Amino acid sequence: MGSALHGGANRCMIQRAAACRGANGGLLRHGLIRVLALFILLLSTGSPSRAATAAAKPARPLGPYTSARSCGTCHDAIHKSWADSPHARAATNPAYLEALRRIVESTAEGKAAREACVWCHSPSTILTGDLEMQQAISREGITCDFCHTVAEVDLQKVPPFDLKPGQVKRGPFEYAGRIQGHATAYSPLHKSSPLLCASCHEYKNANGVLVLSNYSEWKEGPYPARGVSCQDCHMSLVPGTAARNSPSKAGLRVINLHRLVGGSAISQLARGLDLKIESAVSEGGSAEVIVVVTNAAAGHFVPGGLATKSLVLAVGAETADGKLEYRQERVYRRELKDEKGVVLESVADQFLKAASIGSDSRIGPMESRRERFTVPVPTGARAIVARLEYRDGSDIRNAAPTTSLITETRHPLAAR
Ligand code: HEC
Ligand code: HEC
Ligand code: HEC
Ligand code: HEC
Ligand code: HEC
Repeated sequence: MGSALHGGANRCMIQRAAACRGANGGLLRHGLIRVLALFILLLSTGSPSRAATAAAKPARPLGPYTSARSCGTCHDAIHKSWADSPHARAATNPAYLEALRRIVESTAEGKAAREACVWCHSPSTILTGDLEMQQAISREGITCDFCHTVAEVDLQKVPPFDLKPGQVKRGPFEYAGRIQGHATAYSPLHKSSPLLCASCHEYKNANGVLVLSNYSEWKEGPYPARGVSCQDCHMSLVPGTAARNSPSKAGLRVINLHRLVGGSAISQLARGLDLKIESAVSEGGSAEVIVVVTNAAAGHFVPGGLATKSLVLAVGAETADGKLEYRQERVYRRELKDEKGVVLESVADQFLKAASIGSDSRIGPMESRRERFTVPVPTGARAIVARLEYRDGSDIRNAAPTTSLITETRHPLAAR
């Protein structure tokens, strides 16, 4: 019964490698790196992640959902990669908790404020009503049993789910007979539909502003026509066994990576973006520089997701002692404004107060930007340098946004 299933996975793997070097680089290109990464993942049993620790209290039969720890007794490999994911930390990550604490304190109706955030970061609360997150399952964030019992998604509703928690776990496979553990149902929603992800990654607030728009950006881009969905880029196939007691013993074993990395992982950003200096012509103490930035492998705009993130292109001259002088920037970001037209800088404000979209200079899927700079060249300068940086202001505990280097490239200058 398992052979049809794993034949399907094989076919898929080849398709994915060709179609999508995106999120995880494609199995063929980065196969080795990922096999290695999986090994490290499998070996690192010593230190459970924060999320796993938070959920470490024994699972009590509260509400309709089963703890991820229980799923993990059979689905050990998938559990390990999920436990290391932003989804597992969605309800316990300190940046989120601090943002939640501040808006609950600053609003007269604390409960309404919680309701606005918790259904997405801790979706089991939709049915349990545990807005204070007292139950261990609430702190598991986007947990296994939540995703695998979503029956339908309707983006017109908030929350957009038809939830069917219980014995039947929905997934990408069709089984001929019963498997040992629980009942299953084949679900196209899970196998390849962007709607499962859009349920939380596409969000219109009460003022009708699209605060999160990964899905509509994907839909208007080139990837739907190529049959490349969110799962293809974010849940690439890696070696592993779906369950300890898997029905199929033969063939190549692969599972979908449940770590779901995104913009918060610099390696992911680096694979999604191409940066090159097309030309740098120096004359009379300055250089005319043309730089091209391409969103080569993200299925949506970059940066996507929250409007607290920007992509920064910095260009300057590198001096003999390695310093970057005359730094100039282009910033790619989307601005969300309140009803007075003031740009909103915090995540909570963006969700609750955004009334219009201001300028949007982000780079669309497969889009290239050619940028021209005139850079003064000091005597002894060695090269023109172009850098891509990721600036993230999502964590209000920081006084200023954090900046990380994604990639850089240099164009040597003739010695003067
Ligand atoms: C007693 C062991 C056991 C436990 C506990 C268990 N599973 Fe499974 N599950 C299996 C086996 C075996 C398979 C088949 C694996 C394969 O195809 O290789 C499976 C398959 C699945 C599938 C694929 C279904 C499909 O039709 O595509 C999903 C999804 C799933 N499990 C989710 C869960 C979730 C969520 C939990 C926790 C609430 C869980 N499982 C707990 C044994 C278990
Ligand atoms: C964000 C939603 C989400 C969460 C959380 C999630 N899964 Fe999945 N899972 C999926 C999707 C989507 C697929 C199918 C991907 C595909 O086929 O492209 C899948 C596939 C599976 C499968 C089939 C085998 C495979 O690798 O495709 C199993 C078993 C499974 N998940 C178990 C789990 C368990 C156990 C957890 C928690 C430790 C979990 N899932 C958490 C969305 C989720
Ligand atoms: C129930 C809501 C929910 C569903 C369903 C869901 N996500 Fe998420 N996802 C979140 C939340 C909330 C976060 C942010 C967690 C955090 O950092 O606090 C997140 C984070 C992510 C990230 C990491 C973002 C970053 O900045 O690195 C990626 C990638 C991602 N999700 C992809 C997906 C994909 C692909 C699917 C569909 C298979 C999916 N998600 C389904 C709620 C959801
Ligand atoms: C062609 C591959 C590809 C497809 C298809 C794709 N993504 Fe991504 N995604 C990426 C890459 C590469 C990044 C990292 C660059 C970045 O942050 O934009 C990323 C980043 C993200 C992030 C982190 C925040 C952000 O947007 O930067 C989220 C959330 C996310 N994707 C969700 C989705 C969802 C939901 C879908 C389906 C509607 C989807 N992605 C489709 C490749 C893809
Ligand atoms: C519709 C789903 C949804 C709702 C509702 C939602 N979030 Fe989120 N949140 C996300 C997703 C998805 C991300 C991941 C980042 C991205 O896509 O850029 C995220 C990320 C965050 C982050 C950044 C976490 C980090 O690791 O940097 C904070 C802080 C946050 N949310 C706070 C809130 C607050 C406060 C509320 C209520 C006002 C809220 N969220 C409501 C989906 C949601």
